[in-house]
Amino acid sequence: MRPNSIKSIDNNLFIEDVSLLDIAKKYPTPFYIYSKEMILASIDSYKKNIREGDLVCYSVKANSNLAILKIMVEKGMGFDVVSGGELFKVLKIGADPQKIIYSGVGKTKPELEFAVDNDIKSINIESLFELDLLNQIGKEKNKVINIGIRVNPDIDANSHPYIETGKADCKFGLSTDVAMRIAKERYDCISISGISSHIGSQITDDELFGTLFNDLKDLSEFFISNGHPINHIDVGGGLAIDYDFKESFYPELMTRKVIDLARDVPIFFEPGRSLIGQAGSLVTEVLGIKINGKNRFLIVDAGMNDLIRPALYRANHKIEAISASDENSKKYYVAGPVCETADSFGEFSISAKEHDHLIIYSVGAYGYSMASNYNSRLRAAEYLVDGSKITEIRKAESYEDLIKLEQY
Ligand code: LLP
Repeated sequence: MRPNSIKSIDNNLFIEDVSLLDIAKKYPTPFYIYSKEMILASIDSYKKNIREGDLVCYSVKANSNLAILKIMVEKGMGFDVVSGGELFKVLKIGADPQKIIYSGVGKTKPELEFAVDNDIKSINIESLFELDLLNQIGKEKNKVINIGIRVNPDIDANSHPYIETGKADCKFGLSTDVAMRIAKERYDCISISGISSHIGSQITDDELFGTLFNDLKDLSEFFISNGHPINHIDVGGGLAIDYDFKESFYPELMTRKVIDLARDVPIFFEPGRSLIGQAGSLVTEVLGIKINGKNRFLIVDAGMNDLIRPALYRANHKIEAISASDENSKKYYVAGPVCETADSFGEFSISAKEHDHLIIYSVGAYGYSMASNYNSRLRAAEYLVDGSKITEIRKAESYEDLIKLEQY
């Protein structure tokens, strides 16, 4: 019931060769901790079937820590960005602009200009107004801009409604009809070189990627027959991870399915969660135990500002104590300090007492990247483990950090 990088030795949990108990005593909690070994293993499973011309673009929104991005650069990965800030970060860490794609439903003119000035591989447009704006930017800069058309193929990803992005009536992408109208047009400063889509996240049925590819292939042929130089199909991201540790989802099986269908067409993938999700954990201290009415609570020092997924999507992240305790295990709600009833990580059977430490699993993706300062709480530190080496890759915030941008 644990990610591969976490082992139990003499009833104490280790991440790679580092004892979680030792570091939980040493560093202030809560903190995020990542296993480099696991990140490298998931990169390898994505790369297994990749051919010359295919590209795996790490979806930066899942976790944008520069140390994580650096691992991706060193392994030759591409990047999927969705904001000027993400583009800035990947360029800063040395990403090759020809391996960067930019999606997003509401890009501003300065963001688009930033992407155009850096000659990135593809800007995936999601609306007609964006297409017109980019054409205008091309004219102003006297450049022909490479774009992809992000379509919304009306496929149900069977995931949480908040993270489904491929149904006909959602805000993302363009309908196939509108895309086909674009295929008939000519834009002076635009070269349409890709067809892209992203139908949602936490997709457990990898057959959907095959269905999606076939839809995109038909559309790309329509563009090619209308004279557009389509040179890749981008099937987006979205492959699930198993938060319950019951079954596995294998990137190499998903990529194999798509690549077998693709034959000679270059394919882009945009995974986030399945590259980084299982590599990250959140360590928190039990501040105390309380019983209110019929409910028993372990009140911990991590809150929904550190990890919002349980509150926002009722997501289930497994939790256990990092070392065995003499206490019998009991059912507790593990709840944070934030002043919201939703600030609860769920109900678990745990053996723990005051000041013990707990580990919250599978938080490498959309954990820290969705953290906030709500309740004026300080965002946590992040650490990267590589064998027996542990590196602080982001400091915990201080009270001074909390006010440094404010004026009064
Ligand atoms: N490409 C695009 C255009 C996307 O919008 C996303 C995610 C991805 C790729 C990567 O998807 P992944 O492989 O990570 O599923 N905060 C939510 C997830 C939101 C995903 C948004 N888009 C969560 O915590 O579950």
